[in-house]
Amino acid sequence: MKHFRSIAEAGPDAVRRLLDLADHMAEVNRRPNPKVPALRGKTVCNVFFEDSTRTRLSFETAAKRLSADTMNFSVSSSSLNKGESLRDTIETIAAMGVDAFVIRHRSTGTPWQIAQWTNASIVNAGDGWHAHPTQALLDCATIRTAFGRSDGFDGLRVAIVGDVKHSRVARSDIEAFSMLGADVTLVAPKTLLPPFTDRMPVAVTTDLDAVLSEVDVLYLLRMQTERMTEALVPDLREYTARFGLTPARVPRLADHALVMHPGPMNRGVEIAVDPAEIPGSVITQQVTNGIAVRMAVLFDLLGSGSLPEATS
Ligand code: CP
Repeated sequence: MKHFRSIAEAGPDAVRRLLDLADHMAEVNRRPNPKVPALRGKTVCNVFFEDSTRTRLSFETAAKRLSADTMNFSVSSSSLNKGESLRDTIETIAAMGVDAFVIRHRSTGTPWQIAQWTNASIVNAGDGWHAHPTQALLDCATIRTAFGRSDGFDGLRVAIVGDVKHSRVARSDIEAFSMLGADVTLVAPKTLLPPFTDRMPVAVTTDLDAVLSEVDVLYLLRMQTERMTEALVPDLREYTARFGLTPARVPRLADHALVMHPGPMNRGVEIAVDPAEIPGSVITQQVTNGIAVRMAVLFDLLGSGSLPEATS
């Protein structure tokens, strides 16, 4: 692979290969010295035009664990503020010698645009409402590990609940989960569903309680109020009552069911229970797995092909 910009573009063979590689990287991460020389001499540049905690820090950690050099571009202190264009900015950084750009941008398609301006590999760390493919990979890795399902997700029932309309995580998860064989149901008020769900490999319902006890994975989405230009739910308390994971709903989940959330969480809105009190919560494991998955992506794009051994 030259770039990793969406699950659909990568395709099923690459997704399975990356998940297998992430298992190996997770083993590296459990070592006392979790560092390998696989990307020594390579440079990875994080370019985040939107806020991030998990994705930015885990890409930086992943690059460092593979012994790559890292550059962090800060929009707020850059020459973009003096009127420099995005293209000139990317070409300027590329001229310093960059092997991969990790890009987050509020506009859909920016990773594809930037790929036309540089020979470096491009990793999509979230573009607008469109795609967040490394989040989808880490979600798949988390489910795979929790259920021991390295063969795929055939028959697994996943409910993705909440603000699907504004969610790049949901779009990438739908692609990845269904690619691996899961049955995906979207649960949301009609105002928070994207158009053309009939063309997606999903079922749709507005009734969380009707599916709650049947799901293997309950995937809660963040209510993205910063992306809403109109009032799409009448009131957040009513939203929580109909679509939130409340204390009354937790015991109705199957004993084996996983509860997932990409973060950051709106506590008291989509999740009205302390995650530590949800038996099936794997929200912390999702964050941990983000490092292994991002190591796998960077190694697949920039590595020599042989799996990394311990660093000296
Ligand atoms: N899940 C996710 O993308 O989190 P950040 O915005 O903190 O990177």
